[in-house]
Amino acid sequence: MDKFVIKGGNPLIGKVTISGSKNSALPILAATLLTPEECIIHRVPDLSDIRYMLEILKFLGAQVHYEKGTVRVKNKIINWIAPYDLVRKMRASICILGPLIARCGKARVSLPGGCVIGDRPIDLHISGLQKLGANIDIIKGDVVAQGGQLRGTTINLRGPYGSTVLGTDNVMMAACRSEGTTIIEGAACEPEVEDLAKFLVSMGAKISGIGSQRLIIEGIKELHGSEYTIITDRIEAGTFAVGAAMTKGDLFLEQAPVNHMTSVLEKLRDCGVTIQVEEKGLRVSRSGPLKAFEIETSSYPGFPTDMQAQFCAMATIACGKSKVVENIFPNRFMHISELKRLGANIELLKNEVHIYGIERLSGAPVMASDLRASAALVLAGLVADNTTEVHRVYHIDRGYEKIDEKLLAVGAMIKRVYSKT
Ligand code: EPZ
Repeated sequence: MDKFVIKGGNPLIGKVTISGSKNSALPILAATLLTPEECIIHRVPDLSDIRYMLEILKFLGAQVHYEKGTVRVKNKIINWIAPYDLVRKMRASICILGPLIARCGKARVSLPGGCVIGDRPIDLHISGLQKLGANIDIIKGDVVAQGGQLRGTTINLRGPYGSTVLGTDNVMMAACRSEGTTIIEGAACEPEVEDLAKFLVSMGAKISGIGSQRLIIEGIKELHGSEYTIITDRIEAGTFAVGAAMTKGDLFLEQAPVNHMTSVLEKLRDCGVTIQVEEKGLRVSRSGPLKAFEIETSSYPGFPTDMQAQFCAMATIACGKSKVVENIFPNRFMHISELKRLGANIELLKNEVHIYGIERLSGAPVMASDLRASAALVLAGLVADNTTEVHRVYHIDRGYEKIDEKLLAVGAMIKRVYSKT
């Protein structure tokens, strides 16, 4: 398993080009199952999660060509079963369920199981699809769905922790080819859900209320192929912005989706970070002290849970006591014990942490556990004394395109050490 060896102390200075959004690309690639015609998707980031999704589409019968960020895919479905050994590699593959049922009238997709950030139930996905008329059972760890003709209805997708992103995606995709009108109340409004809705409309779907918590979908019989460019990644951009803030750097984030980053940019400004919105991106720099802060994660447009770990890393060197409350995945704190190995002073309570900023972290070997926790550890290594080794960086390769190369190019002392094991 590869590791990163990072020598702390250099400010990040220069230009980073932000890649296409992983969390937009995955459901959009799944949505191509809704048509037998060719779809061409641009700005698809080269990530292991994307490669897994393309493997699944190929397993189902698709012809797939992926080159220089563009995916050409033609779904002649010959199989409606997605097996455990493919699905277990990437839980987001559950978003093939809705389009498969809508296209084939049936589907068998392995239950994604949990992950280190917490239990990942899909009860809202299942109940939403059942309300559209799909008969769904759980058999030997698989979701087994018999669809027949789906029929539109009103569905509420709010759960105990707010709306569900991939649940909204699944139900919206199935509703596009249901008979009649579907109203989704409590729909997730994340930019990635909006991007999927716009892609579906480009395929001929009839969706109104895009970007709101109330989606109205007029089902149609067929969807056609489409050529589409994915939005850029607000979480990658936010991660580099935190890197500039922590290292007292000065980064230009080219193509950063500024309009999708309001809550994160507001919080950075509150911490004393300079944010300048420019024509083709965003300039982030810091010269003065890094102030402590308080954040509470919530559904969009609130503060994103996917930026929580990165802000915890920043809090470890801020002046004063910061407070981070995690309301979406209450156990999403695997990064805390590793940050403490670097000398951070953190108190973990139920679903919140109190972080008392210190002068400097000190380098040590740490273990990545999930995608955003790994990013937090890399950020901490950039400012820690001496050397930090981040092990199991396959976690970070799932969601950040060439992050070591991008960091190297702006002055970070980071090296990927390949290993055969
Ligand atoms: C998406 O996951 C993202 N993944 C996650 O990003 C992100 O953290 C999450 O949304 C929240 O914004 C992708 O888009 C591929 P949810 P998703 O369903 O859709 C509960 C990353 O780092 N819930 O919105 O799986 C659930 O337990 C990843 O890029 C139910 O109770 O998340 C959670 O507490 C990590 N029942 C909350 O809702 C359900 O049926 C939000 O989950 C579904 C979810």
